[in-house]
Amino acid sequence: MELVTNSLKILNEEDKKDLDVARISEDEKSTASRKLYIESYGCQMNFADSEIVASILRENDFATTSKIEEAELILLNTCAIRENAEQKVRHRLQHLVPMKNKRKNVKIGILGCMAERLKTKLLEEEKIVDMVVGPDAYRDLPNLINEVEEGHKAVNVFLSREETYADITPIRLDSNGVTAFISIMRGCDNMCSFCVVPYTRGRERSRDAHSIVKEATDLFNQGYKEVTLLGQNVDSYKWQSADDSVVTFANLLEMVAQVSPDLRVRFSTSHPKDITDEVLYTIKKYDNICKYIHLPAQSGSSRILELMNRTYDREWYMGKIDRIREILGEECGISQDMIAGFCTETEQDHQDTLSLMDYVKYDYGYMFAYSERPNTPAAKKLTDDVPDDVKSRRLAEIIAKQREHSLERNQMSVGKVYKVLVEGFSKRSQEHLSGRNDQNKMIIFPRENFQKGDYVNVLVTECSSATLIGHIVE
Ligand code: SAH
Ligand code: SF4
Ligand code: F3S
Repeated sequence: MELVTNSLKILNEEDKKDLDVARISEDEKSTASRKLYIESYGCQMNFADSEIVASILRENDFATTSKIEEAELILLNTCAIRENAEQKVRHRLQHLVPMKNKRKNVKIGILGCMAERLKTKLLEEEKIVDMVVGPDAYRDLPNLINEVEEGHKAVNVFLSREETYADITPIRLDSNGVTAFISIMRGCDNMCSFCVVPYTRGRERSRDAHSIVKEATDLFNQGYKEVTLLGQNVDSYKWQSADDSVVTFANLLEMVAQVSPDLRVRFSTSHPKDITDEVLYTIKKYDNICKYIHLPAQSGSSRILELMNRTYDREWYMGKIDRIREILGEECGISQDMIAGFCTETEQDHQDTLSLMDYVKYDYGYMFAYSERPNTPAAKKLTDDVPDDVKSRRLAEIIAKQREHSLERNQMSVGKVYKVLVEGFSKRSQEHLSGRNDQNKMIIFPRENFQKGDYVNVLVTECSSATLIGHIVE
C-alpha cells in the first residue's frame, strides 16, 4: 500500500500498525453465506471499529474476506485527519470503478471519519458509493444494507452521546493472536484548533469499565498476551457505575493490569494536560503496565501551542516530561506527534520545536505537515500561511532530528537485557523472531525454540535508528 509523502513515522519497520497503511480484512472461517471485504485507513481506533463492524455483520450472515473480487459488500473505513488521507480514499474509489461496472451487484459503503465529515456530499461526489455510515451508526448497518439492496442509497451519520459498542465482541481482523486493541472511549472534547476529530467522532464518552475488563480477560483466556487501551485522550477516561462510584483512567489501568501478570497493558493516546501523577504511579506499581507513553507535543512554541488550543505551554510540557522521568525513570519510552508549519509559524517557532525535541530526546515520533481541515477552528479563524516548501523543509528538519534521537536512545539499549513478548517472525526471515520490549521498541533475534506469545529475555547487541537486534539469554 502506498505511503503518504508528507508524514513519516520513525518507528520499527517491523511494526504493522503503521498509521498510513490500509489494513485489509482476513479470510474468516465461517459458515456465513455472504462475503464482506473491509479496508481500514487511519488510526488504531478506526481499525478497532472495523472489528466491531465485522462482528455486527457476522450476525447478518456476512464473513470477512481478503479477496475483494469475491465480496458482495465492500467497506472502506476512512480517515479525515489530513487532506492526503481523504485523497487516498478518493483514489481507491476511482480504482474500484471498473469492478463496479462489471459486477453491478457489488455494494460499496464508506464508513468512518470521512463519511461523517462529508455526509451526503460523498454520495454526490463519488457515484459508485451506495452507503455512507458515520462512526456511531454501525449498529444500523444491517438496515442500511437492506435499503441499499432495495435499490436506494443509504446514509446514517448520526453522532451519539452514549454509543460505546460496549456489548459487542470485536472480531479480530489482521491479528497476530498475541496483541490486541481495546477501545475504552469514543470521541473527543478537546477542540485542538487544527483537528477534525471532534467533528467526525463527536463528544467524548467512556465505556463501561467492567466490559473492558471482561474483554481483556476473554482475550487473555484465548492466548493474547498484550492489550492496548485506546482513546483519543485516554487520561480523561471517567466512567460512573450504577452505584455512583467513579472509575478513573488510573483505576481502569489497575483493573486491567490485575487480569494477569502475564498480560501486558499499553495505552494510547495521552494528552499532556490530563496525564496525572496517579496514572504515572499506577504504571510504576505494575510490572505488566508498559513503561512507555505516547505524549504528542504538536509544537515546541508556546505561542503556537496557544493558537492550537492545546492548553499547555512549552514549560508546562517540559515539566510533565521531567515528572515522567522522575517517577518512571530515564528509560521510560516517550514518543511524540509534531505538526510542522501550523498557521503563522515563524522560523523561531520552528526552532522552539527543534529545541524541545533536544530537551526530551523522544524515542520516536509521528511527524506531519499541517493540513488545513475545513470548518475546524483553525480554518475559520487563522490563515494557513506557511508556504508548502517551507512546511516540507521544516518537516524534514524535524524528521532528521528525530532520527538522530531515535538512534541515540536505541544505542542506550545496546548491552542491556529486556523482557520481550514475541509477536511473530521477523519480516525478513523465518529464522528470526520479533517482539517489543516494555518501552515499545521492536527487537529482532534468532528464534531458537521459541514462538509467538512467549516471553523471552533478549540481550541487545546492535541497533539502527529503527530497530534493535539481539539474542535470547537465560
Ligand atoms: N488524540 C491524539 C491525536 C489524534 S490525531 C492527540 O491528541 O494527540 C493524530 C495526530 O495527527 C495528531 O497528534 C496530530 O499530530 C496530527 N494531526 C491532526 N490534525 C492534523 C492536521 N490538520 N494537519 C496535520 N496533522 C494533524
Ligand atoms: Fe484532535 Fe486534540 Fe482531540 Fe487529539 S486531543 S483528537 S488532537 S482535538
Ligand atoms: Fe483519522 Fe478519524 Fe482516526 S480522522 S486519525 S480515523 S479518529
